Amino acid sequence: MNVARTAGGTEGGAPGFAPGEHLLAAESLTKTFGGLAAVKNVSFMVRKEAIKAIIGPNGAGKTTLYDLLTGIYEPDEGSVIFEEKSLLGLPPHRICAMGVARTFQTVRIFSQMTVQENVMVGLHKSTSSGMVGCSLRLPRARREEAWIAEEATRYLDLVGLEMQADSPAGSLPYGQQRLLEMARALATRPKLLLLDEPASGLNAYETRELGELIYRIRDMGITVLLVEHDMGLVMRISEEVLVLDYGEVIAEGTPEEVRNDPRVIEAYLGSELE
Ligand SMILES: Nc1ncnc2c1ncn2[C@@H]1O[C@H](COP(=O)(O)OP(=O)(O)OP(=O)(O)O)[C@@H](O)[C@H]1O
Ligand SMILES: [Mg+2]
Repeated sequence: MNVARTAGGTEGGAPGFAPGEHLLAAESLTKTFGGLAAVKNVSFMVRKEAIKAIIGPNGAGKTTLYDLLTGIYEPDEGSVIFEEKSLLGLPPHRICAMGVARTFQTVRIFSQMTVQENVMVGLHKSTSSGMVGCSLRLPRARREEAWIAEEATRYLDLVGLEMQADSPAGSLPYGQQRLLEMARALATRPKLLLLDEPASGLNAYETRELGELIYRIRDMGITVLLVEHDMGLVMRISEEVLVLDYGEVIAEGTPEEVRNDPRVIEAYLGSELE
């Protein structure tokens, strides 16, 4: 099946797949570093408003796959179609402007700025006067600045960090810094949100709350891709799971299907899936 064409809706497509039902289609993505294929011939589709997990042992290629989807790396081969448009060759900020936002495995926040200011950074792209107008303190920019601050508070509310709005971002515990990064990504108003190990550094209670938050994000109409090692969270909240091993897709299906797949069990040697 040619996934890109199916997603584009220009050809008949597979039975049961209405054109436009998929937000993203990656086809035959390959990325090699030196002699090593970090991502090898990976094809998959993401349905609109789905929560889809991407799992696999350490070094399986999950983060590199995100880097290919968000323009950090260009694939050696393959294509990425988002809302029926190709993302190939576009820089990260253009891909973000089209509605693809992500968080990073290693948190990237401005630790000297306050929690609220970190989210405001994500919002500046959506105002007309932008950074220049703000620094000149034009009246319009001042109005926008007030709007941005209010919006930032909304996103902090959503992730449960409203009480910490004025704290320096660097003073937050690691797990909350991850939530802050999510708030900033959401502030760019994405259609697709890519999360890279959001539960790392969270305790069991916080992980459960994170699951609820991801449901809320999906209910806002945002499609979620979830790279995560916490199998309890993955199996509980994902509708579909894609499994990578040594850069290749070894399984794809419902949580139940992949959990019982012999290749998946072998890749994990039973450890993380138990
Ligand atoms: N910039 C790079 N240069 C060279 N090799 C790289 C680079 N980025 C990733 N790799 C290699 O590509 C492979 C896939 O790495 P990647 O970080 O995508 O895996 P991952 O599935 O995200 O792993 P983890 O679960 O540990 O985060 C690894 O073997 C890694 O060492
Ligand atoms: Mg990774």
